[in-house]
Amino acid sequence: MQFHLNASLKNVHTFSIDQTCDALVEVTTIEELIMVYQDPKWSTLPKLILGKGSNMLFTEHFAGLIIVNQLAGITLTETESHHHLHVNGGEDWPSLVKWSVDRGLGGLENLAMIPGCSGSAPIQNIGAYGVELQDVCEYVDILCLDTYTVKRLSKKECLFGYRDSIFKHALYGKAIVVAIGLTLPKEWKPCNHYGPLKSLPTETLSPSTIFNEVCAIRSSKLPDPSKQGNAGSFFKNPVITKDHFDRLLALYPNIVGYESNDMIKVAAGWLIDQCQFKGVTEGGAQVHPNQALVIINYDQASAIDILKLADRVRQSVLNKFDIQLEHEVRFMGRDNETNLDRALEALV
Ligand code: FAD
Ligand code: EPU
Repeated sequence: MQFHLNASLKNVHTFSIDQTCDALVEVTTIEELIMVYQDPKWSTLPKLILGKGSNMLFTEHFAGLIIVNQLAGITLTETESHHHLHVNGGEDWPSLVKWSVDRGLGGLENLAMIPGCSGSAPIQNIGAYGVELQDVCEYVDILCLDTYTVKRLSKKECLFGYRDSIFKHALYGKAIVVAIGLTLPKEWKPCNHYGPLKSLPTETLSPSTIFNEVCAIRSSKLPDPSKQGNAGSFFKNPVITKDHFDRLLALYPNIVGYESNDMIKVAAGWLIDQCQFKGVTEGGAQVHPNQALVIINYDQASAIDILKLADRVRQSVLNKFDIQLEHEVRFMGRDNETNLDRALEALV
């Protein structure tokens, strides 16, 4: 294992902002992961496990050790009714989806082109086009950081929710996802109810037609992080009461919202768009001109540019719609995870 001191983070997160950390190491086995955590040399430093950094904003220099997950390996087994995939945490998620579709396996196609590692997928229960990780997840294997043993959590134990799981709460900072288990029924049922997928002709539906359509939609809407740094949706879609939604509907008949249990999930992109933010810049940061929910590193943005722009967006949505947006992107500060309020306070 090679430790890189005072390493640049530019190439290990998709916002591609010039930021640094005290040290960075890539781990390829669970044994290496344990060695890093047990090594007295690093014991006093804060540590952050990183996949592809596609949901991260480093708000300042990280005075700690970044551990890049490169645990590789995929095992495919089958029973009469299902295919089962055991996927080590460092495997690239979008490559896994393509690999499975290329083999004719159905079930992951709606989750095409979501950047990141497979081991990061359960953290926020990744979702797109009507499917979430929880729909295909059988188990999650974790390395417990108190005992250094690997434990298997059932899907139920992961407490998955919208962009949420146990890893953001009870197991926060206590466990590293080392592998996931996916279960894909051999009797494939298409999931094509999400907006733009509805128009696909039913007679031609297959995992690969859905995969190709999802890739086409995503390529047309979302900026490619290798060309324009970004971390996908910056904010979550807010969930509001029906009363609140009805009041807004009376004022804005085109507002986009979907039933979610007894509440309404509102399209944050629509709200931000209505506040006329598409294309708005702050220093080198910009609200994406085609998808208002995405903030991009338009021209050598600093983390401060991104924070200031996110704050302007959040304030405008609050003033116009009385809705408080929460960021989906995870913020890492100097030695701890932080959030938009605290990161802005740290600026003054
Ligand atoms: P990272 O950004 O590296 O890490 C994210 C968080 O998870 C960090 O807090 C990290 O410490 C923690 N973490 C990472 N790995 C582990 C581990 N093994 N064990 C414990 N904790 C861990 N998300 C969606 O849900 N749907 C989308 O459609 C979507 N589209 C996107 C499009 C673009 C262009 C981009 C850039 C992002 C998009 N995202 C989307 C967000 C992102 O792809 C997901 O959050 C993804 O799962 C992040 O994976 P990562 O490996 O990059 O995680
Ligand atoms: N919209 C606008 N203006 C915009 C953007 C969107 O009016 O600038 C409207 C659209 O017309 C549509 C609605 O908002 O009616 C929803 O837009 P879209 O289908 O693009 O989805 P989204 O809500 O913006 C969510 C996820 C994405 C996921 C897509 C597809 C969240 C926070 N985001 O985006 O996930 O890929 O649905 O399922 O839930 C991510 O999490 O990083 C991410 C990209």
